[in-house]
Amino acid sequence: MSDVKNQELNSFVAWVDKRFPLLSTWQQHLSEYMAPKNFNFWYYFGSFAMLVLVIQLVSGVWLTMSYKPGSAIAFDSIQYIMRDVEWGWMIRYMHSTGASFFFLVVYLHMLRGLMYGSYRAPRELLWILGCTIYLVMMAEAFMGYLLPWGQMSFWGAQVIISLFSAVPLVGEELAVWIRGDFVISDATLNRFFALHVVALPLALVALVYVHIVALHKVGSNNPDGIEIKENKDADGKPVDGIPFHPYYTVKDLMGATAFLIVFCAVMFFAPEMFGYFLEKPNFEPANPLKTPEHIAPVWYFTPYYAMLRAVPDKLLGAIIMFAAILIFYFLPWLNRSKNKSIRYMGWMSKLSLAVFIITFIILGWLGTQPASGGYVLAAQIFTAIYFLYFLLMPWYSKWDKAKELPTRLT
Ligand code: HEM
Repeated sequence: MSDVKNQELNSFVAWVDKRFPLLSTWQQHLSEYMAPKNFNFWYYFGSFAMLVLVIQLVSGVWLTMSYKPGSAIAFDSIQYIMRDVEWGWMIRYMHSTGASFFFLVVYLHMLRGLMYGSYRAPRELLWILGCTIYLVMMAEAFMGYLLPWGQMSFWGAQVIISLFSAVPLVGEELAVWIRGDFVISDATLNRFFALHVVALPLALVALVYVHIVALHKVGSNNPDGIEIKENKDADGKPVDGIPFHPYYTVKDLMGATAFLIVFCAVMFFAPEMFGYFLEKPNFEPANPLKTPEHIAPVWYFTPYYAMLRAVPDKLLGAIIMFAAILIFYFLPWLNRSKNKSIRYMGWMSKLSLAVFIITFIILGWLGTQPASGGYVLAAQIFTAIYFLYFLLMPWYSKWDKAKELPTRLT
């Protein structure tokens, strides 16, 4: 750029900066924000989650331009989008693939937190905000799934909303209040549409914003679980830190490119993902008089669905299911290990985490199977193991022989 142009740009930036904290925000959060220098593969998933959030917001806005809520027209409007709207099929597959990728990425993001103890002090609030994002994401996905008004949309919502009727005393009224009717109907579809398109996305964006604010207040953890702020040079900069920009902006850009290639491959060549991303019964319009043979939610809910069905009592099953989600909130106070990262823990913590991951996957598979015989027994056993990971943590994390921490990042 010529000197004249450079000067013009600088004076424009100075003009803006007098009226809006542009440069100081850039410096504080990017060019002078010090991040640990040893971020690995697992540190991509936060930025991927932001990318998918944008994909969902943009594709969602475009879908809303042609989608029509209403029990008599919703299913047909989806067919119209898929067949007649220009590029409508792509926008819809982008949104449905995006939903599954969102959960995939967030599950890996949470797993990273479990591995490196990113929920431990001083990041408890960051973790709690993350858990709340996860809850809102689940509500968002659940409500979005009713909108195509297919068989699984209808019956999935039927199963989950009827759980509320098991609440003692006020159960029936509560279920009617949620549905806005005695059965899943037009009123339910319209309120779910309002929540899915306006209220919950707003909540998600706000929560992600405060999640990042909290992250930048305490600084990132890293694969070694060593606080870089505790070892600073003469200028007050962490010796093991590097500026986020350009180092990690370039790294994340590379990651995003690879991610988008995989995303597009699925979106263009396998958007249904063999019935896992788009379930077969949902290609049939909702029919309140015909229950599908197996009712199963989309894959990201199936671990919890397996737990729900593992318990014969409806109310207890619902309590177990919600407890399995809410228990993540308590992790910062359950782990008593001296170190944060799994790298410097003993075999007990490593084995527990490995068993937990396998348990979660098996529960996910069990949730796609019919609720009969051996499957139910297996779901009961794995539900117990799932909870033991959390409930026994105060003991095994304390007894486990922690390894000596290095003084610098490795
Ligand atoms: C829309 C969903 C989410 C978005 C966009 C998001 C975004 C981010 C970003 C950009 C980072 C920094 C980069 C990174 O460490 O990967 C981050 C860090 C973090 N997130 Fe999230 N996040 C989301 C959901 C969650 C959830 C569900 C949890 C936990 C339940 C969570 C817990 C954390 C923690 C503990 C960190 C700090 C990790 C560390 O420093 O080691 N996040 N998040």
